[in-house]
Amino acid sequence: MTPSTGLFISFEGIDGAGKSTHIDAVAQAFEAQGRVVTRTREPGGTPLAERLREMVLNAPMDALTESLLVFAARRDHIAQVIAPALAAGHVVLCDRFSDATFAYQGGGRGFDWQLLQTLEQWVQHQGAPGAGLLQPALTLWFDLPASVAAARLASARVPDKFEAQPQAFFEAVAAGYARRCAEQPQRFTRIDADQALDAVRVQVLGALRSKGFLA
Ligand code: TYD
Repeated sequence: MTPSTGLFISFEGIDGAGKSTHIDAVAQAFEAQGRVVTRTREPGGTPLAERLREMVLNAPMDALTESLLVFAARRDHIAQVIAPALAAGHVVLCDRFSDATFAYQGGGRGFDWQLLQTLEQWVQHQGAPGAGLLQPALTLWFDLPASVAAARLASARVPDKFEAQPQAFFEAVAAGYARRCAEQPQRFTRIDADQALDAVRVQVLGALRSKGFLA
C-alpha cells in the first residue's frame, strides 16, 4: 500500500448513537469545499466484505470467529477501497472501523484485547518498514448513555444480532470505546450525542474545523 495523501475519518458509537445522519452532513461539507468524498462502512464496503457483514450481523458465532470475520472484511475493504481512495486524495468517511471491533468484540463480548491488537497489526500494517498502521486521522466518537440509545432503537426497525442485545451489552461496548479513546486520544474526538440533532451537528463540524480539515 502506498502512503496516503487523502484524509481518513471514521464515525463510531453504540447502536442508536445517531452517527449515520451526521456522515451525510460531513460529506456535504467536504464536497462544498471541492473535495472528492468516498463514503463507506464496516463491516462491508466491498462485495466480499458485505457478504461477511451478512454473516456477522445475523449468524450466531463465538467472539473469535466474529473478530476474524470483521478483520477479514476490513482487509478486503482496505485493499479494494480505502487505500486506493486515500492514494487518490479522497476524503474517506467510514461508518465504523477497527475501534468498533475493540468496542463490540473486545468490550461487548469480552474478547481478548491483545489478540485484537495482533489482528489489527496484521490487517492494518502499511507495508513499508516504519510506515505504521493505517488508522483514521480523526475518529468522531458519538457518545451517549446506553439507556438513551436503547430508547431510540426501540422505535426503529427490526433489530439485528447486536441491536437485539440487552442494555448491559451496550454499556460494555461504550466502555470499550472509552478505553480505545484513552489509549489513542490524539485521534479521537468525543461528541456528546445526547443532544438535539442540530447541536450534535455543530459539535461535529466544529471538530473538523478545529482539526484544520474544514475551512
Ligand atoms: P451499524 O454500523 O450500526 O449499521 P446499521 O446502521 O446499518 O445498523 O451496524 C453494524 C453492526 O456491526 C453494529 O451493531 C456494530 C457491529 N460491528 C462489530 O460488532 N464489529 C465491528 O468490527 C464492526 C465494524 C461492527
